[in-house]
Amino acid sequence: MSQIQINSFQDYQEAYQKSIENPSLFWGEIAEHFEWNKKWDNVLEYDWQKPETKWFVGGKLNITENCLDRHLATKGDQTAIIWEPNDPKEATQHVSYKELHSRVCAFANVLKNNNVKKGDRVCIYMPMVLELSIAVLACARIGAIHSVVFAGFSATALAARINDATCTVLLTADGGFRGKKTTPLKDIADEALKECPSIKRTIVYQRTHQKISWNTKIDTWWHEELKKVDDDCPAEIMDSEDMLFILYTSGSTGKPKGMVHTCGGYMVYATYSFQNVFQYKNNDIYWCTADIGWITGHSYIVYGPLCSGATTVMFEGVPSYPDFGRFWEICEKLKVTQFYTAPTAIRALAKHPSEFVTKYDLSNLKVLGTVGEPINEEAWHWYDDNVGKNNCPIVDTWWQTETGGMMISSLAGITKDKPTFATLPLPGIQPILLDDNGNELTETKAEGILAIKYPWPSLARTIYGNHERYKNVYFSAYPNHYFPGDGALRDAQGNYRITGRVDDVVIVSGHNLGTAPIENAINEHESIVESAVVGFPHDIKGNALYAYVITYNNVEENEDLTNEIRTLVAKTIGAIAKPDKIQFVKGLPKTRSGKIMRRILRKIASNDISNLGDVSTLLNPEIVKSIIDEKL
Ligand code: WT7
Repeated sequence: MSQIQINSFQDYQEAYQKSIENPSLFWGEIAEHFEWNKKWDNVLEYDWQKPETKWFVGGKLNITENCLDRHLATKGDQTAIIWEPNDPKEATQHVSYKELHSRVCAFANVLKNNNVKKGDRVCIYMPMVLELSIAVLACARIGAIHSVVFAGFSATALAARINDATCTVLLTADGGFRGKKTTPLKDIADEALKECPSIKRTIVYQRTHQKISWNTKIDTWWHEELKKVDDDCPAEIMDSEDMLFILYTSGSTGKPKGMVHTCGGYMVYATYSFQNVFQYKNNDIYWCTADIGWITGHSYIVYGPLCSGATTVMFEGVPSYPDFGRFWEICEKLKVTQFYTAPTAIRALAKHPSEFVTKYDLSNLKVLGTVGEPINEEAWHWYDDNVGKNNCPIVDTWWQTETGGMMISSLAGITKDKPTFATLPLPGIQPILLDDNGNELTETKAEGILAIKYPWPSLARTIYGNHERYKNVYFSAYPNHYFPGDGALRDAQGNYRITGRVDDVVIVSGHNLGTAPIENAINEHESIVESAVVGFPHDIKGNALYAYVITYNNVEENEDLTNEIRTLVAKTIGAIAKPDKIQFVKGLPKTRSGKIMRRILRKIASNDISNLGDVSTLLNPEIVKSIIDEKL
């Protein structure tokens, strides 16, 4: 697989040039390095008016043959996954490719025994145990579509996702360990399933051994099911454009969006980008600290690394437990060579004495990475000085759930990094900057709205069950371009720096949160008339949430109400979405057409009131002053 690696800057320039001049030739040659049951007829067919994108059209494959079977002859005994428990007193586990293959096949047979067929949707709501990776791969093995829901989400959020995809089977655990906390996953799932008629079976992995309730009609134990099967399970042959998985991401309006990724293009791009950005070499130990509940975990814990025959680390816990040295203790212990985490984690760790880092031997580290939000200068340098010892390139990787893989990033040691810049596009990626009217900014040095003007293999093909919304959100703002929702600037060398969202999505601790669903949750409260939620800068989380709420006439502001609002948000969406600040207001600044002027609210929340712009066009300009005066 290392044949698809770029080895020098010149190599990068040539690959990039070729990928632009002849994308089909370029990607066809990359795809030759994978296992296909049948070769594609056409590399790319697309029409972004519709919009429709197809890669490796007519090709047949199973991604798990690429992740597992292919390595058995050459790397069967090599470690595929190193699993590191939440509690350092529990043993680390090393799972070889051979063993992983066998365990995936066995669980795939469990799914079959429970009536899961190709095309069925399976919801996975699990902690970061090995079985989560096994479950994901087992679904792919038989052509079932996995929908992983992050185990920090509430019952309401879980139910909404199960129902949107009409999943028939739920895979969960009794509970999950994260730091000092135990999350009662089965209880939460039980609560969710009251609203989910499509679920016919829940397979429960025993992790915490806590007491749970049991519904004999639906529930069955994971370990009991495994006793009934063998580990022989031929891979289902999939079409390149068959769905591989659905993964939900928040939108700026109500419902989460079930992003659909397909088999062939996703496999090729996740693997190609993994190898090139991280420059993975034989015997390296690669660790991405993300949760598999996010796209980062899908592409860069499971699929990209395993397709590359890499050794990938899966960590159950959190960076702060048992203390703030946990990440570095693991890096030393496992001799980690590539380390990939989020700016929010870096900022949180940077608050603590540097001894938490310096006491560990990090000399095996070669590459550091970040993802999820812009990384500020200070955090970048802390990471570079303390973790990388100024000796490791830092890849700042810009991408999205929708893009399936890293889009703009330096390639470690090959192209130059630059603090706070994601830098250059990967081969095959054609970013451009637009002004507000959608005109391309052709000067190299420019700032504007980021867009992508040509298809790449791992683009999400649709929003599950709602192609119209897909078209509206991503392909309508600037016709014939993919619109990611971010702003960016470009320096004279062509390096991109992502400046943040240009829509109503706020990134809190690296989690992409739509403000609309949070507002909807708050508005459910009987005392609340209306609300507006915006982000404001926060030292550690990057952004935190600020909610402006209007209560009914006779309801006074009080602490109980504030707490109830927070609890309601946590229950509806998850604890991560709880507003840090809640301000009771008499009205919200609105345009004459009734749209809340979030721009003004953002400025007030950020204490940046010197330049509010012209408020006179508002329906209710006087409200702005009263909100400022009454700000806490
Ligand atoms: C949004 C996508 C990609 C996996 C994690 C988040 C922001 C992501 C960067 C970066 C600046 C970044 C963007 C993007 N973002 N990476 N390196 N620099 N911003 O995936 O939840 O789909 O969120 O995260 O705003 O649009 P996601």
